[in-house]
Order: sequence, then structure tokens, then C-alpha cells
Amino acid sequence: MALQGTGSGSDFTATGEDQALDLMVGRGKAIGLVKDLLRRYAPADSPVLFQGESGTGKELAAQILHKLSPRRSAPFIAINCGAIPESILETELFGSERGAYTDAVSRPGCFERTNGGVIFLDEIGEMSYSSQAKLLRVLEAKEVTRVGGSGTIPLNLRVISASNRDLKEEKKAGRFREDLFYRISVLPVKIPPLRERLEDIPLLAYSMVGSLSDDSRQISMESVEKLKAHGWPGNIRELRNVIERALLFSKCRIIQPGDIIFE
Ligand SMILES: Nc1ncnc2c1ncn2[C@@H]1O[C@H](COP(=O)(O)OP(=O)(O)O)[C@@H](O)[C@H]1O
Ligand SMILES: [Mg+2]
Repeated sequence: MALQGTGSGSDFTATGEDQALDLMVGRGKAIGLVKDLLRRYAPADSPVLFQGESGTGKELAAQILHKLSPRRSAPFIAINCGAIPESILETELFGSERGAYTDAVSRPGCFERTNGGVIFLDEIGEMSYSSQAKLLRVLEAKEVTRVGGSGTIPLNLRVISASNRDLKEEKKAGRFREDLFYRISVLPVKIPPLRERLEDIPLLAYSMVGSLSDDSRQISMESVEKLKAHGWPGNIRELRNVIERALLFSKCRIIQPGDIIFE
């Protein structure tokens, strides 16, 4: 009998997979479908696109996908394309060479720093049309040239994108490039809003009370019912805020409906 080497990191144990997926709290049907897709899409190297409202867990899903994928030991680099001014976005993504613009320094961009791992292009729907074209060129050529530079750097990475806009609609309206859309959306995943998975609220609430408090705080069933009756425009991010506030306001160990205040 031969002894198999351990610790190679290439084989994935069931427990490791479960641990990563457990970060996404919820046992309802809707979130179950999302978890099925994460399991199915993880081993592949094709681009994944997460779409869903703000606060539904797109970034969390991307991190889990990275943890489940063969690239889990390589970097996960996230960049929020909506939060960075267009003039800076390109040097952030592609890097810069001294002399590219006044005060420019030689610096690698996100793509170079990700090499071997996963790049997470968050809020990709916010990118300008001209930046979209440059991004597409990098993805198609699988190589990047720093802004102001001339040499090309070959890339080996997986692309995960996310948007809270419906990119198909954005494409129809002429705001999102069709070619880029097809390039990034090979494996699409829709993350449902919290109001369409109210069945997950009890488990989410218990788990958040546990992780946000250091003592043995609890939440009453009546409070959970109050949470289930809310519309949750801010989704799970809003739920976290509500629980965090309730823990502060509550005068007793167990959170009561009166402690739950919506924005
Ligand atoms: N199913 C979930 N279980 C536990 N926490 C979650 C879940 N989905 C989202 N979160 C948490 O909610 C917050 C918002 O999630 P995030 O991934 O940033 O959303 P998005 O990128 O869609 O705006 C984060 O703190 C995240 O960890
Ligand atoms: Mg986000």
C-alpha cells in the first residue's frame, strides 16, 4: 500500500468546501441554488459574473468562489471600478511606468499583482465606455501593458465580476459593451435580494447576534418576526446594521422588537 502525500493543497476535502460555503449563511432554496452554482463553477477557470442588488453578498460569493477554486493559494485582488475616478482607474488596473504622467511612478496594477490568482472587478457596470474597451483588450490578449510603458506582461488569472445593474439591460441601452459583456459573463450567478429569501432571516439574525456580540446575547422570536416583515432595500448589509444597533440599544440580554429600528 502506498502512502499518499498530504498537504499538496490540490485535493479539496468535503469539510473545506463546507467551511467556505458556510460563510454564506442561509439554508433556503434560493441561496441553496447560489451555493450549487458556486460549487459547480469553482473548479472551472471561466469568468464568473455575480449580479444582484447592493448588499446581497456578491463580494462574499466571489471570496467563497476563490476559496473553493484551484487558485485558492494565490491572491484574491478586489477593485471597485465604481469608486475610483476614471483617470486613476486605468493605472490602478494596469499599472504605470515612470513618465506616464506628471509624478507617475513605476507601479504594478491589480492585474499584475493578481497574477496566478483571482481578480474581482466589483461594480464593473460603472466603468466608462472607453475604459471598458481597454479592459476588454487586456482580457482578450491575456497580457497587460502598464500605462506609459511598452513591454507586455503575460497574465494567468481568473476574472470574477460583479454588478448591481442588470448588465443585459445596460448592454441594450448602449452603456455596456456587448463584447465585454459576453467576455465576462460566461458563468452568470444572480444573487437574490433578501426580501425574496425571508426564510433565511432567522438563521442570519442568530448568526449575526453571535458574531457581533462578545457575550451570550440573544434575539427573541418576536424580534425575528419584525425583521421578517421588513422590505430590506439594503439587503444583508442593512440587516447587519440593524442587528448591530439593536445590540447597542437593547437594555437586556435578549433583543426585543422595540430595540429594532429601521433606517
Ligand atoms: N449569506 C450571507 N451570510 C452572512 N453574511 C452575509 C451573507 N451575504 C452577505 N453577507 C454580509 O453582508 C455584507 C454585504 O455583503 P457584500 O458581499 O459586501 O455585498 P455586495 O457586494 O453584494 O454589496 C457583508 O458584511 C457580508 O459579509
Ligand atoms: Mg459590493
